[in-house]
Amino acid sequence: MSKLWGGRFTKKTDQLVEEYTASITFDKALAEEDIQGSLAHVTMLGKQGIVPQEDVETIKAGLLRVLERIRSGEQQFSISDEDIHMNIEKALIDDVGPVGGKLHTGRSRNDQVATDMHLWLRKRVVEFVELLRKLQEALIGQAKANIDTIVPGYTHLQRAQPILFAHHMMAYVSMFGRDIERLQDSYKRINVLPLGAGALAGTTFPIDRHFVAEQLNFDRVYENSLDAVSDRDFIVEFLADAAIIMMHLSRLSEELIMWSSTEFSFVELDDAFCTGSSIMPQKKNPDVPELVRGKTGRVYGDLIGLLTVLKSLPLAYNKDMQEDKEGMFDTVTTLQGALQLFAPMIATMKVNQSRMRQAVNQDFSNATDIADFLVNKGLPFRQAHEVIGKTVLYCIENNKYLLDLSLDEFKQFSELFDERIYDVLQPEQVVNARNVYGGTAKPQVEAAISRAEEALQATAGW
Ligand code: ARG
Repeated sequence: MSKLWGGRFTKKTDQLVEEYTASITFDKALAEEDIQGSLAHVTMLGKQGIVPQEDVETIKAGLLRVLERIRSGEQQFSISDEDIHMNIEKALIDDVGPVGGKLHTGRSRNDQVATDMHLWLRKRVVEFVELLRKLQEALIGQAKANIDTIVPGYTHLQRAQPILFAHHMMAYVSMFGRDIERLQDSYKRINVLPLGAGALAGTTFPIDRHFVAEQLNFDRVYENSLDAVSDRDFIVEFLADAAIIMMHLSRLSEELIMWSSTEFSFVELDDAFCTGSSIMPQKKNPDVPELVRGKTGRVYGDLIGLLTVLKSLPLAYNKDMQEDKEGMFDTVTTLQGALQLFAPMIATMKVNQSRMRQAVNQDFSNATDIADFLVNKGLPFRQAHEVIGKTVLYCIENNKYLLDLSLDEFKQFSELFDERIYDVLQPEQVVNARNVYGGTAKPQVEAAISRAEEALQATAGW
Protein backbone atom coordinates (compact mmCIF):
# COMPACT_ATOMS: atom_id res chain seq x y z
CA MET A 1 0.00 0.00 0.00
CA SER A 2 1.28 3.51 -0.77
CA LYS A 3 2.61 6.03 1.76
CA LEU A 4 0.23 8.38 3.57
CA TRP A 5 2.44 11.19 2.24
CA GLY A 6 3.07 9.58 -1.20
CA GLY A 7 1.42 12.20 -3.46
CA ARG A 8 4.48 14.31 -4.10
CA PHE A 9 6.80 11.38 -4.80
CA THR A 10 7.54 9.58 -8.06
CA LYS A 11 9.82 6.87 -6.68
CA LYS A 12 9.57 4.24 -3.99
CA THR A 13 11.56 4.91 -0.82
CA ASP A 14 14.89 3.11 -0.78
CA GLN A 15 14.60 0.03 1.43
CA LEU A 16 17.58 1.04 3.59
CA VAL A 17 16.17 4.54 4.05
CA GLU A 18 12.89 3.07 5.22
CA GLU A 19 14.69 0.94 7.76
CA TYR A 20 16.95 3.77 8.86
CA THR A 21 14.23 6.37 9.36
CA ALA A 22 11.50 4.18 10.84
CA SER A 23 10.80 4.41 14.55
CA ILE A 24 7.96 1.90 14.80
CA THR A 25 10.19 -0.76 16.39
CA PHE A 26 10.39 1.37 19.54
CA ASP A 27 7.69 4.06 19.38
CA LYS A 28 4.97 1.39 19.34
CA ALA A 29 5.23 1.84 23.13
CA LEU A 30 3.25 5.06 22.58
CA ALA A 31 0.28 3.30 20.97
CA GLU A 32 -2.18 3.77 23.85
CA GLU A 33 -1.32 7.46 24.22
CA ASP A 34 -1.48 8.01 20.47
CA ILE A 35 -5.03 6.69 20.37
CA GLN A 36 -5.99 8.57 23.52
CA GLY A 37 -4.80 11.80 21.88
CA SER A 38 -6.58 11.01 18.62
CA LEU A 39 -9.86 10.34 20.41
CA ALA A 40 -9.68 13.75 22.11
CA HIS A 41 -8.66 15.46 18.87
CA VAL A 42 -11.46 14.00 16.78
CA THR A 43 -14.02 14.72 19.51
CA MET A 44 -12.93 18.36 19.33
CA LEU A 45 -13.13 18.33 15.50
CA GLY A 46 -16.76 17.21 15.85
CA LYS A 47 -17.63 19.77 18.51
CA GLN A 48 -16.19 22.55 16.35
CA GLY A 49 -18.10 21.35 13.29
CA ILE A 50 -14.85 20.71 11.41
CA VAL A 51 -15.73 17.04 10.87
CA PRO A 52 -19.40 15.89 10.74
CA GLN A 53 -20.51 14.19 13.95
CA GLU A 54 -21.37 11.01 12.10
CA ASP A 55 -17.81 10.69 10.79
CA VAL A 56 -16.46 11.45 14.26
CA GLU A 57 -18.41 8.48 15.64
CA THR A 58 -17.14 6.23 12.84
CA ILE A 59 -13.54 7.30 13.50
CA LYS A 60 -13.83 6.85 17.26
CA ALA A 61 -15.29 3.36 16.91
CA GLY A 62 -12.54 2.51 14.44
CA LEU A 63 -9.82 3.82 16.78
CA LEU A 64 -11.20 1.71 19.62
CA ARG A 65 -11.13 -1.39 17.41
CA VAL A 66 -7.52 -0.65 16.45
CA LEU A 67 -6.73 -0.25 20.14
CA GLU A 68 -8.28 -3.63 20.88
CA ARG A 69 -6.24 -5.24 18.14
CA ILE A 70 -3.06 -3.62 19.46
CA ARG A 71 -3.80 -4.81 22.98
CA SER A 72 -4.44 -8.36 21.85
CA GLY A 73 -1.27 -8.35 19.76
CA GLU A 74 -3.25 -8.96 16.60
CA GLN A 75 -2.41 -5.62 14.96
CA GLN A 76 0.58 -5.84 12.63
CA PHE A 77 2.92 -2.85 12.42
CA SER A 78 4.98 -2.17 9.36
CA ILE A 79 8.29 -0.40 8.86
CA SER A 80 7.03 1.08 5.61
CA ASP A 81 4.50 3.05 7.69
CA GLU A 82 7.45 4.47 9.58
CA ASP A 83 6.13 5.25 13.02
CA ILE A 84 3.29 4.52 15.44
CA HIS A 85 1.29 7.55 14.31
CA MET A 86 1.12 6.52 10.67
CA ASN A 87 0.73 2.84 11.49
CA ILE A 88 -2.34 3.64 13.56
CA GLU A 89 -3.76 6.03 10.98
CA LYS A 90 -3.26 3.40 8.30
CA ALA A 91 -4.92 0.76 10.46
CA LEU A 92 -7.83 3.12 11.02
CA ILE A 93 -8.29 3.77 7.31
CA ASP A 94 -8.11 0.01 6.66
CA ASP A 95 -10.84 -0.42 9.24
CA VAL A 96 -13.29 2.42 8.46
CA GLY A 97 -12.36 3.37 4.93
CA PRO A 98 -11.37 6.81 3.51
CA VAL A 99 -13.36 8.69 6.19
CA GLY A 100 -10.54 7.70 8.57
CA GLY A 101 -8.42 10.18 6.64
CA LYS A 102 -10.36 13.02 8.31
CA LEU A 103 -8.71 12.29 11.67
CA HIS A 104 -5.52 14.14 10.78
CA THR A 105 -7.38 17.39 9.98
CA GLY A 106 -5.78 20.39 11.72
CA ARG A 107 -3.01 18.24 13.15
CA SER A 108 0.57 17.32 12.30
CA ARG A 109 2.69 14.43 13.47
CA ASN A 110 4.86 17.09 15.08
CA ASP A 111 2.28 18.17 17.63
CA GLN A 112 0.94 14.61 17.75
CA VAL A 113 4.21 12.97 18.77
CA ALA A 114 4.91 15.68 21.33
CA THR A 115 1.45 15.09 22.83
CA ASP A 116 2.04 11.34 23.00
CA MET A 117 5.33 11.88 24.82
CA HIS A 118 3.73 14.21 27.36
CA LEU A 119 0.91 11.73 27.99
CA TRP A 120 3.32 8.81 28.34
CA LEU A 121 5.84 10.49 30.59
CA ARG A 122 3.31 11.94 33.00
CA LYS A 123 2.13 8.39 33.81
CA ARG A 124 5.70 7.27 34.44
CA VAL A 125 6.37 10.18 36.78
CA VAL A 126 3.40 9.19 38.93
CA GLU A 127 4.64 5.57 39.00
CA PHE A 128 8.15 6.65 39.98
CA VAL A 129 6.89 8.73 42.88
CA GLU A 130 5.12 5.61 44.14
CA LEU A 131 8.23 3.44 43.70
CA LEU A 132 10.33 5.99 45.58
CA ARG A 133 7.75 6.05 48.37
CA LYS A 134 7.99 2.25 48.67
CA LEU A 135 11.76 2.55 49.00
CA GLN A 136 11.40 5.25 51.63
CA GLU A 137 9.02 2.97 53.53
CA ALA A 138 11.60 0.16 53.52
CA LEU A 139 14.35 2.52 54.72
CA ILE A 140 12.13 3.88 57.47
CA GLY A 141 11.38 0.27 58.49
CA GLN A 142 15.11 -0.40 58.89
CA ALA A 143 15.52 2.88 60.77
CA LYS A 144 12.82 1.90 63.27
CA ALA A 145 14.29 -1.57 63.73
CA ASN A 146 17.70 0.00 64.36
CA ILE A 147 16.87 2.98 66.52
CA ASP A 148 19.37 1.74 69.13
CA THR A 149 21.98 0.34 66.75
CA ILE A 150 25.20 2.30 66.91
CA VAL A 151 27.60 2.16 64.02
CA PRO A 152 30.74 4.09 63.12
CA GLY A 153 30.00 7.10 60.95
CA TYR A 154 32.65 7.85 58.35
CA THR A 155 34.26 10.76 56.58
CA HIS A 156 36.98 10.00 54.01
CA LEU A 157 35.87 6.40 54.66
CA GLN A 158 37.74 6.74 57.98
CA ARG A 159 35.90 6.24 61.25
CA ALA A 160 34.70 9.68 62.30
CA GLN A 161 31.94 9.74 64.93
CA PRO A 162 29.50 7.04 66.02
CA ILE A 163 25.95 7.46 64.74
CA LEU A 164 22.71 5.54 64.88
CA PHE A 165 22.29 3.18 61.94
CA ALA A 166 18.74 4.59 61.87
CA HIS A 167 20.26 8.02 61.20
CA HIS A 168 22.17 6.63 58.24
CA MET A 169 18.99 5.07 56.81
CA MET A 170 17.12 8.34 57.30
CA ALA A 171 19.74 10.24 55.30
CA TYR A 172 18.65 8.19 52.28
CA VAL A 173 15.00 8.84 53.11
CA SER A 174 15.78 12.57 52.82
CA MET A 175 17.63 12.06 49.53
CA PHE A 176 14.78 10.10 47.96
CA GLY A 177 12.39 12.70 49.38
CA ARG A 178 14.13 15.36 47.29
CA ASP A 179 13.84 13.07 44.28
CA ILE A 180 10.09 12.86 44.85
CA GLU A 181 9.87 16.64 45.07
CA ARG A 182 11.82 17.05 41.86
CA LEU A 183 9.52 14.67 39.98
CA GLN A 184 6.44 16.35 41.38
CA ASP A 185 7.76 19.71 40.30
CA SER A 186 8.61 18.49 36.82
CA TYR A 187 5.00 17.36 36.43
CA LYS A 188 3.98 21.01 36.02
CA ARG A 189 6.03 21.20 32.84
CA ILE A 190 5.08 17.75 31.59
CA ASN A 191 1.37 18.32 32.00
CA VAL A 192 1.11 20.86 29.17
CA LEU A 193 -0.60 20.18 25.84
CA PRO A 194 1.27 20.76 22.55
CA LEU A 195 -1.58 19.60 20.29
CA GLY A 196 -3.01 22.37 18.12
CA ALA A 197 0.44 23.71 17.27
CA GLY A 198 0.14 21.94 13.93
CA ALA A 199 3.41 21.40 12.11
CA LEU A 200 4.86 24.57 13.62
CA ALA A 201 2.64 27.61 13.10
CA GLY A 202 -0.83 26.63 14.29
CA THR A 203 -3.66 25.65 11.98
CA THR A 204 -6.20 27.30 9.69
CA PHE A 205 -9.03 25.23 11.21
CA PRO A 206 -11.08 26.74 14.06
CA ILE A 207 -9.88 24.19 16.62
CA ASP A 208 -10.33 24.44 20.40
CA ARG A 209 -7.06 23.58 22.10
CA HIS A 210 -8.36 24.18 25.60
CA PHE A 211 -11.15 21.69 25.07
CA VAL A 212 -8.60 19.04 24.03
CA ALA A 213 -6.47 19.91 27.07
CA GLU A 214 -9.45 19.47 29.35
CA GLN A 215 -10.34 16.09 27.88
CA LEU A 216 -6.78 14.85 28.28
CA ASN A 217 -6.45 16.34 31.78
CA PHE A 218 -3.66 18.72 30.87
CA ASP A 219 -3.34 21.75 33.14
CA ARG A 220 -2.33 24.13 30.35
CA VAL A 221 -1.65 24.38 26.63
CA TYR A 222 1.69 25.49 25.17
CA GLU A 223 1.73 29.25 24.65
CA ASN A 224 3.73 29.21 21.44
CA SER A 225 3.23 26.78 18.58
CA LEU A 226 6.92 26.71 17.59
CA ASP A 227 7.92 25.98 21.16
CA ALA A 228 5.20 23.33 21.50
CA VAL A 229 6.67 21.15 18.75
CA SER A 230 10.35 21.90 19.47
CA ASP A 231 10.33 21.47 23.21
CA ARG A 232 11.91 18.36 24.68
CA ASP A 233 12.99 20.09 27.91
CA PHE A 234 10.49 18.02 29.82
CA ILE A 235 12.27 14.84 28.75
CA VAL A 236 15.71 16.28 29.52
CA GLU A 237 14.39 17.25 32.92
CA PHE A 238 13.02 13.79 33.55
CA LEU A 239 16.34 12.22 32.49
CA ALA A 240 18.17 14.59 34.84
CA ASP A 241 15.86 13.64 37.70
CA ALA A 242 16.41 9.98 36.85
CA ALA A 243 20.18 10.51 36.76
CA ILE A 244 20.07 11.99 40.26
CA ILE A 245 17.94 9.09 41.52
CA MET A 246 20.42 6.61 40.04
CA MET A 247 23.29 8.58 41.59
CA HIS A 248 21.57 8.22 44.97
CA LEU A 249 20.94 4.52 44.39
CA SER A 250 24.56 4.03 43.35
CA ARG A 251 25.78 5.57 46.61
CA LEU A 252 23.51 3.26 48.60
CA SER A 253 24.65 0.37 46.38
CA GLU A 254 28.28 1.10 47.11
CA GLU A 255 27.62 1.14 50.85
CA LEU A 256 25.65 -2.11 50.70
CA ILE A 257 28.43 -3.78 48.74
CA MET A 258 31.03 -2.58 51.25
CA TRP A 259 28.91 -3.47 54.26
CA SER A 260 28.35 -6.98 52.85
CA SER A 261 32.08 -7.68 52.58
CA THR A 262 33.68 -9.94 55.19
CA GLU A 263 35.82 -6.99 56.23
CA PHE A 264 32.77 -4.95 57.26
CA SER A 265 30.13 -7.67 57.82
CA PHE A 266 27.66 -4.95 58.80
CA VAL A 267 24.75 -6.28 56.75
CA GLU A 268 23.68 -9.39 54.95
CA LEU A 269 21.46 -9.13 51.90
CA ASP A 270 18.77 -11.78 51.61
CA ASP A 271 19.65 -14.82 49.48
CA ALA A 272 16.82 -13.88 47.13
CA PHE A 273 18.75 -10.78 46.09
CA CYS A 274 22.19 -12.32 45.69
CA THR A 275 23.79 -14.75 43.28
CA GLY A 276 26.55 -17.33 43.53
CA SER A 277 29.77 -17.96 41.71
CA SER A 278 30.09 -20.65 39.05
CA ILE A 279 33.47 -21.68 40.43
CA MET A 280 33.81 -20.55 44.06
CA PRO A 281 31.21 -22.39 46.14
CA GLN A 282 31.49 -20.06 49.14
CA LYS A 283 30.57 -16.91 47.24
CA LYS A 284 27.41 -14.86 47.75
CA ASN A 285 27.63 -11.84 45.52
CA PRO A 286 25.67 -8.60 45.89
CA ASP A 287 24.82 -8.52 42.18
CA VAL A 288 21.77 -6.29 42.45
CA PRO A 289 23.52 -3.27 44.01
CA GLU A 290 26.50 -3.88 41.74
CA LEU A 291 24.31 -3.78 38.64
CA VAL A 292 22.46 -0.71 39.85
CA ARG A 293 25.84 0.97 40.39
CA GLY A 294 26.84 -0.06 36.88
CA LYS A 295 23.57 0.88 35.20
CA THR A 296 23.88 4.40 36.58
CA GLY A 297 26.25 4.95 33.67
CA ARG A 298 23.66 4.27 30.99
CA VAL A 299 21.15 6.63 32.60
CA TYR A 300 23.77 9.41 32.65
CA GLY A 301 24.46 8.49 29.02
CA ASP A 302 20.79 8.88 28.10
CA LEU A 303 20.76 12.36 29.63
CA ILE A 304 23.93 13.50 27.87
CA GLY A 305 22.69 11.83 24.68
CA LEU A 306 19.48 13.85 24.54
CA LEU A 307 21.14 17.11 25.56
CA THR A 308 23.54 16.57 22.68
CA VAL A 309 20.74 15.78 20.21
CA LEU A 310 19.05 19.05 21.12
CA LYS A 311 22.19 21.18 21.19
CA SER A 312 22.11 23.79 18.40
CA LEU A 313 19.00 22.23 16.88
CA PRO A 314 17.08 24.92 14.99
CA LEU A 315 13.36 25.37 15.60
CA ALA A 316 10.99 23.73 14.99
CA TYR A 317 10.72 19.95 14.42
CA ASN A 318 13.75 18.17 12.97
CA LYS A 319 14.01 14.45 12.45
CA ASP A 320 16.88 14.42 14.95
CA MET A 321 14.18 14.67 17.59
CA GLN A 322 13.05 11.13 16.93
CA GLU A 323 16.20 10.28 18.90
CA ASP A 324 14.43 11.48 22.07
CA LYS A 325 12.68 8.16 22.55
CA GLU A 326 15.00 5.21 22.99
CA GLY A 327 17.03 6.89 25.74
CA MET A 328 13.86 7.83 27.58
CA PHE A 329 12.47 4.30 27.32
CA ASP A 330 15.80 2.84 28.38
CA THR A 331 16.04 5.11 31.41
CA VAL A 332 12.48 4.30 32.45
CA THR A 333 13.12 0.55 32.22
CA THR A 334 16.45 0.83 34.06
CA LEU A 335 15.04 2.96 36.84
CA GLN A 336 11.93 0.82 37.25
CA GLY A 337 14.08 -2.29 37.64
CA ALA A 338 16.35 -0.67 40.20
CA LEU A 339 13.59 0.79 42.34
CA GLN A 340 11.42 -2.33 42.22
CA LEU A 341 14.32 -4.41 43.55
CA PHE A 342 15.66 -1.96 46.08
CA ALA A 343 12.58 -1.66 48.28
CA PRO A 344 12.29 -5.40 49.09
CA MET A 345 16.07 -5.80 49.21
CA ILE A 346 16.33 -3.10 51.89
CA ALA A 347 13.30 -4.43 53.75
CA THR A 348 14.76 -7.95 53.99
CA MET A 349 18.35 -6.91 54.70
CA LYS A 350 19.78 -8.35 57.94
CA VAL A 351 21.62 -5.81 60.04
CA ASN A 352 24.48 -7.25 62.08
CA GLN A 353 24.03 -5.12 65.18
CA SER A 354 26.66 -6.83 67.33
CA ARG A 355 29.26 -6.53 64.61
CA MET A 356 28.48 -2.82 64.32
CA ARG A 357 28.80 -2.46 68.08
CA GLN A 358 32.12 -4.29 68.04
CA ALA A 359 33.37 -1.86 65.39
CA VAL A 360 32.30 1.12 67.48
CA ASN A 361 34.08 -0.27 70.55
CA GLN A 362 37.29 -0.62 68.60
CA ASP A 363 37.86 2.83 67.25
CA PHE A 364 38.56 6.41 68.19
CA SER A 365 35.30 7.83 66.96
CA ASN A 366 34.64 9.17 70.46
CA ALA A 367 37.72 11.40 70.33
CA THR A 368 35.80 14.57 69.45
CA ASP A 369 33.75 14.11 72.58
CA ILE A 370 36.67 14.24 75.01
CA ALA A 371 37.95 17.25 73.13
CA ASP A 372 34.52 18.81 73.74
CA PHE A 373 34.81 17.74 77.40
CA LEU A 374 38.01 19.78 77.76
CA VAL A 375 36.39 22.71 75.96
CA ASN A 376 33.56 22.62 78.49
CA LYS A 377 36.26 22.86 81.15
CA GLY A 378 37.48 26.09 79.59
CA LEU A 379 40.28 24.93 77.27
CA PRO A 380 40.18 26.58 73.79
CA PHE A 381 39.06 24.04 71.18
CA ARG A 382 42.35 24.17 69.25
CA GLN A 383 44.35 23.26 72.36
CA ALA A 384 41.88 20.53 73.28
CA HIS A 385 42.25 19.12 69.75
CA GLU A 386 46.03 19.01 70.21
CA VAL A 387 45.77 17.29 73.61
CA ILE A 388 43.42 14.60 72.32
CA GLY A 389 45.51 14.09 69.18
CA LYS A 390 48.46 13.26 71.43
CA THR A 391 46.28 11.03 73.62
CA VAL A 392 45.12 9.08 70.56
CA LEU A 393 48.70 8.72 69.35
CA TYR A 394 49.66 7.34 72.78
CA CYS A 395 46.77 4.84 72.50
CA ILE A 396 47.86 3.71 69.03
CA GLU A 397 51.45 3.23 70.19
CA ASN A 398 50.28 1.26 73.22
CA ASN A 399 47.60 -0.74 71.45
CA LYS A 400 44.72 0.71 73.47
CA TYR A 401 41.45 2.51 72.91
CA LEU A 402 40.46 5.64 74.81
CA LEU A 403 38.20 3.75 77.19
CA ASP A 404 41.13 1.49 78.14
CA LEU A 405 43.19 4.36 79.57
CA SER A 406 43.41 4.89 83.32
CA LEU A 407 42.66 8.31 84.76
CA ASP A 408 46.39 8.70 85.51
CA GLU A 409 47.21 8.05 81.90
CA PHE A 410 44.64 10.67 80.86
CA LYS A 411 46.05 13.15 83.31
CA GLN A 412 49.50 12.90 81.68
CA PHE A 413 47.93 14.80 78.79
CA SER A 414 45.79 17.28 80.76
CA GLU A 415 45.04 17.97 84.38
CA LEU A 416 41.49 18.87 83.37
CA PHE A 417 40.46 15.21 82.93
CA ASP A 418 38.36 13.62 85.67
CA GLU A 419 36.45 10.35 86.06
CA ARG A 420 33.39 11.73 84.24
CA ILE A 421 35.18 11.19 80.92
CA TYR A 422 34.36 7.48 81.13
CA ASP A 423 30.68 8.36 80.75
CA VAL A 424 31.38 10.93 78.07
CA LEU A 425 33.22 8.29 76.05
CA GLN A 426 30.40 5.72 76.04
CA PRO A 427 29.04 5.32 72.49
CA GLU A 428 25.41 5.91 73.65
CA GLN A 429 26.51 9.09 75.35
CA VAL A 430 28.50 10.18 72.29
CA VAL A 431 25.49 9.64 70.04
CA ASN A 432 22.93 11.20 72.35
CA ALA A 433 25.11 14.23 72.99
CA ARG A 434 24.40 15.31 69.40
CA ASN A 435 20.96 16.44 70.31
CA VAL A 436 20.50 19.18 67.72
CA TYR A 437 17.73 19.29 65.16
CA GLY A 438 18.82 16.90 62.39
CA GLY A 439 21.50 15.30 64.60
CA THR A 440 22.02 11.64 65.48
CA ALA A 441 20.74 11.69 69.09
CA LYS A 442 17.95 9.15 69.54
CA PRO A 443 15.16 11.69 70.21
CA GLN A 444 16.18 13.64 67.10
CA VAL A 445 16.17 10.52 64.92
CA GLU A 446 12.80 9.48 66.35
CA ALA A 447 11.45 12.92 65.48
CA ALA A 448 12.96 12.64 61.99
CA ILE A 449 11.23 9.30 61.53
CA SER A 450 7.84 10.71 62.46
CA ARG A 451 8.33 13.70 60.15
CA ALA A 452 9.26 11.31 57.33
CA GLU A 453 6.18 9.21 58.02
CA GLU A 454 4.01 12.30 57.80
CA ALA A 455 5.64 13.28 54.52
CA LEU A 456 5.06 9.76 53.26
CA GLN A 457 1.37 10.08 54.01
CA ALA A 458 1.27 13.43 52.27
CA THR A 459 2.66 11.92 49.05
CA ALA A 460 0.32 8.88 49.16
CA GLY A 461 -1.78 8.52 46.04
CA TRP A 462 -0.17 11.57 44.51
N1 ARG B 1 8.44 9.48 14.34
C1 ARG B 1 8.57 10.88 14.45
C2 ARG B 1 9.29 11.21 15.75
O1 ARG B 1 9.28 10.42 16.59
C3 ARG B 1 7.24 11.55 14.46
C4 ARG B 1 7.25 12.95 14.00
C5 ARG B 1 7.57 12.97 12.56
N2 ARG B 1 7.34 14.23 11.97
C6 ARG B 1 7.84 14.52 10.76
N3 ARG B 1 7.57 15.67 10.30
N4 ARG B 1 8.61 13.68 10.11
O2 ARG B 1 9.87 12.28 15.90
